[in-house]
Amino acid sequence: MKYESLVHAIGHTPLVAVNFGTPPRIYAKLEYLNPAGSIKDRSAAYMIAEAERTGKLRPGGTIIEASSGNQGIATAMIGAIKGYNVIITVSEKVSQEKQDTLAAYGARVVACKPTEKLDDPVGYYATAVRIHKETPNSFMIAQYFNPDNPRAHYYGLGPEVWNQTDGQLTHFFGAVGSCGTVSGAGKYLKERSSDVVVVGVDAENSYLHTKGNPKPYKLEGLGVDFDSPHLEKAPIDTFIGVSDEHAIAMLKTLARKHGFLVGGSSGAVAYAAYEYSKNLSSDDMIVMIFGDSGRAYLTKHYF
Ligand SMILES: Cc1ncc(COP(=O)(O)O)c(C=O)c1O
Repeated sequence: MKYESLVHAIGHTPLVAVNFGTPPRIYAKLEYLNPAGSIKDRSAAYMIAEAERTGKLRPGGTIIEASSGNQGIATAMIGAIKGYNVIITVSEKVSQEKQDTLAAYGARVVACKPTEKLDDPVGYYATAVRIHKETPNSFMIAQYFNPDNPRAHYYGLGPEVWNQTDGQLTHFFGAVGSCGTVSGAGKYLKERSSDVVVVGVDAENSYLHTKGNPKPYKLEGLGVDFDSPHLEKAPIDTFIGVSDEHAIAMLKTLARKHGFLVGGSSGAVAYAAYEYSKNLSSDDMIVMIFGDSGRAYLTKHYF
C-alpha cells in the first residue's frame, strides 16, 4: 500500500485469529497498528475532516479535546500534519507515556484531577470546555457528544470488519468509552445482518455499569462515565462489565501466550469475549477490537 498522506494510512488494519481453545472462531482487529497507535485515529481524522468541511475549523485554528489519551494523541498527530495548534486535557491517571506522546507531537497537555463523572467541574472535560471558550478561533472535537464520532466507525471500521469476515461474523466485541466505536460499527453491522450480536465491554466500576454509583478503576480507554448520547438508539445487545484484575490478567496472557502486546481496553474486551465464547458454537465467529498497544502502559506495570 502507498499513501500520499499519513491521514490516508489510517484504518485498513489486519484481522488476526486468536486461539482461546473455545468453540467459535475468534479474530482480533489490530487497531493498535494505526499510525498514531490506536482506534482513535479513525474518529479523530473523520471529526477533523468534517469540522474543516463545515467551516468549524479554520486555517491557523486551535483544536481542543478532552481525552483519555488516545483521542488526543490521534488529534495531535493530525494537527501536526495539517498545521493546527492542539491542546489536550487528560485525567492525571493517564499513563506518563501517553502524556509524553502528546507532547512529542507538539500538543499542549493539561493534566486534571481524576473524577468519576464526566461533568465534574475540575475534571478534564469541563477544563477543555473552559479552554475552548477562552481560545479564539478554536474548535473542540467533543468526542463524547459529536455525532461524527460514531459516524467515523459506521463508514470505516464497520465495513472493514464486515468485508474482512466475508459477512460471517456473528458477534462483535468492542470497548465502550465515548461509545463511538460500538454504536457506529454496530449500526453498520446490524444493517448488514440483524443477527450480529453487538457487545459493549465496560469497566465494572463505571457510571453506566454501576447504574450511577461509580467507583474508581485503573483501566484507561474504557468506562462510560456519563449518560452517553451515542448510546441513544445504539444497536448494542448487551454490556459486559470487566474488573481491573480480570482485564490485567488477560493482558498478560495475550502478551505471553499469544504475542499481542495490547492495552487495558483490549484486555477487557478479550476477557469478556473469552468468557462469552465458552457458550458459543463452532458456527459462531467473534471479532474483538484491540484498541491500542501495551507499550503505552509499561510504566503501569500491568505486565
Ligand atoms: C484503547 C481504546 N479502546 C477503546 C476505546 C473506546 O472507544 P470509544 O470511545 O469509541 O467507545 C478507547 C477510547 O478512548 C480507547 O482509547
